[in-house]
Amino acid sequence: MTQPRKILTVFGTRPEAIKLFPLIHALEADSRFVSRVCVSAQHRGMLDQVLAITGIAPHHDLDVMTPGQTLDTLTARALTGIGEVVDRERPDWVVVQGDTTTVMAGALAAYYRQIPVCHVEAGLRSGDIHHPWPEEVNRKVVGSFAALHCAPTETAAAALRRENVAADAIHVTGNTVIDALQWVTARIAAQPELAAGLAPLEQRFAGKRIIGMTSHRRENFGDGMRGIAEAVRRIARREDVAVIFPVHLNPNVRAVMETALTGLDNVALIEPLDYPHFARLLDISTLMLTDSGGVQEEAPALGKPVLVMRETTERPEGVAAGTAKLVGTNADTIVAETERLLDDPHAYAAMARAHNPFGDGHSALRICDLLAEQSVPVERALL
Ligand code: UD1
Ligand code: UDP
Repeated sequence: MTQPRKILTVFGTRPEAIKLFPLIHALEADSRFVSRVCVSAQHRGMLDQVLAITGIAPHHDLDVMTPGQTLDTLTARALTGIGEVVDRERPDWVVVQGDTTTVMAGALAAYYRQIPVCHVEAGLRSGDIHHPWPEEVNRKVVGSFAALHCAPTETAAAALRRENVAADAIHVTGNTVIDALQWVTARIAAQPELAAGLAPLEQRFAGKRIIGMTSHRRENFGDGMRGIAEAVRRIARREDVAVIFPVHLNPNVRAVMETALTGLDNVALIEPLDYPHFARLLDISTLMLTDSGGVQEEAPALGKPVLVMRETTERPEGVAAGTAKLVGTNADTIVAETERLLDDPHAYAAMARAHNPFGDGHSALRICDLLAEQSVPVERALL
């Protein structure tokens, strides 16, 4: 009988937690694996929201977040802390997801110990190292040495092949975000009270069309954020809409948005929502305004038009399918595109079609099978 493989899953932020909990649930339920979990806690409150709702209790919590953290201190703290955990755990594989600082540091810590890395959501590329910044470089670093690349789509797989990643190390698995969305949707259906906390806002804005909004990208700090805030101010002059905006905990985001948007009757600046409540916000929204990566994947799955307030996207599938549109951060453009969707039923109908270019909800199981099938170097198998 073969020994179960020890998998150390490493993550630190809200989106990584959302996209990895389906895999952790699957690993825990599978006798082929021993599952260990390490969080850097690059995010604290927003990570804990996901851990609480998904019942994940990390074996290691590095608690690295500091207020207004810089990229270099965060990288150093995460790399050192994760390295110590890898030394203690001596896993067969380290799994990371996406493109944050924790992902790059976690992958490097494994590579420095010659432990193979499985990269979930591999191969996303905007082609521009400044958008998104620093994520485009983070994911390229991991892509340069990962042993197993779980690409969400064929487009992502092709990007890896163009970078000369060995074809047999690339597998199209779909994106685990669709597994996560299906899980949370089923949970809400069984227990509606999990997402009932928006009811007071839903009553306050009854009869208005809801615009759901998020914004947090580092490359948008400064002019970009100011353009986004100005656009929301103008959109909010309309009496037939209301904007619900759970504001990211990054102080750079909060300062701009609170200054620009506090006190407007039909703009609700609220605290970050836990995942069931955010799923509810997606559900009640007419359209989404966002610079988020994950929201660009979730909104198409639910048939919600999404205007992407960025200059580039590494998720062209939503744009190609017509549910997502890149609008940048210029206030005039954001307002014009939003009003077009609000006022032109044909333009709205053309974007509001549910489809799933990002996955079918079975990505986590595919990744488990890949992790079980990979050969492990003999010297590691004997440890
Ligand atoms: C990070 C990721 C980004 C990802 C985003 C998801 C990097 C460089 N950036 O961006 O790729 O899209 O998370 O949300 O990895 N803060 C809190 N509590 C929290 C979270 C953040 O107080 O739960 C505050 C802290 O002051 C922290 C700051 O926000 O220092 C910035 O957090 P950080 O993770 O460095 O960058 P993000 O902009 O959140
Ligand atoms: N999300 C959430 N609560 C919120 C805002 C977003 O649970 O208040 C979820 C959202 O459903 C998506 C993920 O967080 O799955 C996106 O995270 P974020 O936008 O912070 O990061 P990105 O995806 O841009 O890396």
